[in-house]
Amino acid sequence: MKQTLIELLDARVRAALTAVDCPDAPAVIQPAGRPEFGDYQANGVMGAAKARKMNPRQLAEQVVAKLDLAGIADKLEIAGPGFINITLAPEFLAGLANAALVDDRIGVPQPASQRVIVDYSSPNLAKEMHVGHLRSTIIGDALARVLRFLGHEVIAQNHVGDWGTQFGMLTAYLIESEQEGDVALSDLEDFYRRAKQKFDADDAFAMRAREYVVKLQGGDAQVNALWQKFLDVSLHHCEAVYEKLGVGLERKDVRGESAYNDDLPVVVADLQAKGLAVESEGAQVVFLEEFSNKEGEAQAYIVQKQDGGYLYSTSDLAAVRYRVGTLKADRALYVVDARQGLHFQQMFTLARKAGYASDVVKLEHVGFGVMLGEDGKPFKTRAGGTVKLAELLDEAEHRAFALVSEKNAEMPEAQRREIAHVVGIGAVKYADLSKNRNSDYVFSWDSMLSFEGNTAPYLQYAYTRIAGVFRRAEGFDANAQIVLNDEAERQLALMLARFAEALQSVARETMPHFLCIYLYELAGQFMRFYEACPVLKSEGAVRDSRLRLCELTARVLKTGLGLLGIQVLEQM
Ligand code: ARG
Repeated sequence: MKQTLIELLDARVRAALTAVDCPDAPAVIQPAGRPEFGDYQANGVMGAAKARKMNPRQLAEQVVAKLDLAGIADKLEIAGPGFINITLAPEFLAGLANAALVDDRIGVPQPASQRVIVDYSSPNLAKEMHVGHLRSTIIGDALARVLRFLGHEVIAQNHVGDWGTQFGMLTAYLIESEQEGDVALSDLEDFYRRAKQKFDADDAFAMRAREYVVKLQGGDAQVNALWQKFLDVSLHHCEAVYEKLGVGLERKDVRGESAYNDDLPVVVADLQAKGLAVESEGAQVVFLEEFSNKEGEAQAYIVQKQDGGYLYSTSDLAAVRYRVGTLKADRALYVVDARQGLHFQQMFTLARKAGYASDVVKLEHVGFGVMLGEDGKPFKTRAGGTVKLAELLDEAEHRAFALVSEKNAEMPEAQRREIAHVVGIGAVKYADLSKNRNSDYVFSWDSMLSFEGNTAPYLQYAYTRIAGVFRRAEGFDANAQIVLNDEAERQLALMLARFAEALQSVARETMPHFLCIYLYELAGQFMRFYEACPVLKSEGAVRDSRLRLCELTARVLKTGLGLLGIQVLEQM
């Protein structure tokens, strides 16, 4: 396919609108949503009629008379005040399915490529990764995969927090614990707690910690080496989590806050020169009238503190300048907690005013809500502490292993462990990705590991069932053509052809749950087909064709789950 079904129908309906003297009228093609409305609806006629003070039904009739969908649709109906209901022809959908079967992109077109920066995961390295970083990591990874599959050039940026006063304390503590021969960094969380305790209790240590900050910023070789060592250990912890999650972030993707150190004074001087940053109570501040309060006072966006220190906001300005100016981004996504929304809106506004990003570059904060426990409160350990990501993922595998063992007691343990890994990690990811990212969501082991409903295990199992059909099939024509005779077959082929649309909406709106909804509906449609149309018990060309439909469904399920970062199994 060169275009999605919606794009194809849109072009044809617009041509018909043009032919009836409504040249710029949009066609507004939407999936019909209900079988009695056909497969797609063109809803643009009403608007066009209104603009021209015409009777919409009459205009719809004129449009239908000019609408060339020969070989594409076999039924056009005018409904209500001027909707055009379009039902696609089975021969046309069969043609798409047959083309998808011999295409390694299963019929998904590649639109013109953009260079897209995806800033995701981006934990603070002073501590171990915790559940707060799970959402950014999973959502960012899924978006990066979908964008790449659609042909975009994705540059991942792991904007880790690797700078700031805490690192003075941590490096000071590192050197002291090393003198005591302590391998303290195996547990970063514990290390941080002990350093902080000492910092609070021991004035001499607190003093040394402050000296270390100054030394670190001044480029002192010894303190810098300690700092590097600490970062390296911390990144190793992150990488263990990425590895377990199957997230492809690497060292080369890490470009932390400290990478912008040299740019910070340059950015502030530049903002001053452009008359944007001014002194206010000793700090360097940009007043943004775009963000005025009720009294009409412009909000202050601080870019340099009174003591000369720089802030999170300053590094982000330097980063956007780098991403657009040096990396030449067409679009930059920031997959970060929704609570940082104001920071990003202000930063984007300022970046445009300062000329770091022109109007054609898209800057988008891809926010997300918090993960809640089953009690509806922010997700914590029983003792009320933060949940470490590594432990959470171990528990996912552990629980999945118990489930798998219950179902397949006789299966060799190694195989059960493999299934448990794929199902456990898949369940955690899918539970997150399947929710609208803007809302908070309740983390529930029981619902995410359920084999029923919109879950990873359900979809993984749907795939495995199809793989099972092929193990029992024997003797069929693996190159047979799909022919659609039954309505359930036609509906399944339609759903398969809509894969591209689903991916494009994910990329456009940065909403991975659109793909989850699609895959869940596809699995449902497959089940309806499988019930209505015997596969293995049918014969000849019908059996071959149905097997080919099964094959394409399996490929779309596997590819779609893969784009969410979720694996499938041939047997489970
Ligand atoms: N390190 C920050 C945090 O943990 C997230 C950084 C997100 N990216 C950015 N460019 N600000 O909250």
